[in-house]
Amino acid sequence: MCDNELSAQSSYYILYKNESQNTSLVSPYSSITPQIQRIEPQIQIKKGRQVEDTSTSQDRDFWEDFEWTEEDKLSNKKTLDQNLAKCDLVENLPPGRGQFLIRKFEEQADSYWNKFYSSHQTNFFKDRHYLHKTFPDEFGTVYGIHCLEDSGGGIDAEFDVNCFVSSALTDGTDFTIVEIGCGVGNTVLPLLELKSTLVLPSIEVRNTGPNVTGRTKRLVVWGLDFSETAVDLLRQDDRFIKAQQDSRARAAVWDITKTHPKDAPHELEASADISLLLFCLSAISPENMAIAARNVAATLKPGGMLLLRDYGRYDEAQLKLGKSRAKRLGENFYAKHDGTRCYYFELEDLKALFGNGDKGAGLEVVELKYIQRMYTNRSKEFVRRRVWVQGRFRKSIV
Ligand SMILES: C[S@@+](CC[C@H](N)C(=O)[O-])C[C@H]1O[C@@H](n2cnc3c(N)ncnc32)[C@H](O)[C@@H]1O
Repeated sequence: MCDNELSAQSSYYILYKNESQNTSLVSPYSSITPQIQRIEPQIQIKKGRQVEDTSTSQDRDFWEDFEWTEEDKLSNKKTLDQNLAKCDLVENLPPGRGQFLIRKFEEQADSYWNKFYSSHQTNFFKDRHYLHKTFPDEFGTVYGIHCLEDSGGGIDAEFDVNCFVSSALTDGTDFTIVEIGCGVGNTVLPLLELKSTLVLPSIEVRNTGPNVTGRTKRLVVWGLDFSETAVDLLRQDDRFIKAQQDSRARAAVWDITKTHPKDAPHELEASADISLLLFCLSAISPENMAIAARNVAATLKPGGMLLLRDYGRYDEAQLKLGKSRAKRLGENFYAKHDGTRCYYFELEDLKALFGNGDKGAGLEVVELKYIQRMYTNRSKEFVRRRVWVQGRFRKSIV
């Protein structure tokens, strides 16, 4: 079972605030003492369901980030070690059996995800409507929050020069967002509900100073996943069908560990102003992550941005895996009871995979941070600590 920020089967709700606080390249084990401020929940909870996105009601817009204390560090490490001792470590299985299992999970990875979506259909994850909060520099523009509003040709005085500007501004093409590992479209579909055109800022420097004008772009959204079942479900959604009729939406089956984007459906290579990789890379075996990262990076236009969020090391779900029927396939990499797999990242992993280092995908690291957030279950009155990693990477203009 997947357990990401949007799992509809979790009964936790978001208490806290301010997602944009950065702790660049600090370990979750930073020694800073936490300043945890309890805020009384002001949201309605549906039994057995996690609260949905936070953008439609101010009441729901609360959470709190935390940082680990030294005590937390020790206690998490201890818990992980204890639980791992109970976890089926494939290396310890009889000769041949461990390698057989590792191969099976690898070769049938797409089938396990197909089964997952056949069973849960579109009901597991909840729609994301808050990308402008998660990635304000890029999605502020897309949601029309920071940048120019198309108000009959006039220019919004509140134009924010820091908002996302890609090379696409000058080439006359669409503004394309590609989600890789999109599942049934919980991110793609809300994006298709936004305005069909964007007005992006274009800055000319003149003798009299900078002159800001707007350039209208059509917003095109693609959803890609290696699960045929997920892609079929996405294609059946009315929002997708309507946008597809206007040539603004595309969906395709693509395995990022197997095919370069130039050979993937729809000529994906260098097509994206923004590529999104949300809780997808963790489902891939560590040996295949470098090739996957290079293929993902190749989807970007020059100047385009890759935005990633995924599971972080010592996330509570990882600490608890040893108590489940999970199998430990390698360091920080597990197969869950349903056969889907999950890796728990450190920031250094992402830097090595996507950055400019020897084996990296050659992108500029714009931001890397841990998101450490508390969820509290109102009825049972316990707190759960989630850890995610978040990265923003830019492809160079040349
Ligand atoms: C945890 S789900 C996340 C779905 C969606 N991004 C979200 O956050 O709601 C992981 C997704 O990655 C997809 N996936 C896993 N391995 C993949 C691969 N090698 N190529 C493409 N997609 C993959 C799975 O099919 C699944 O839909």
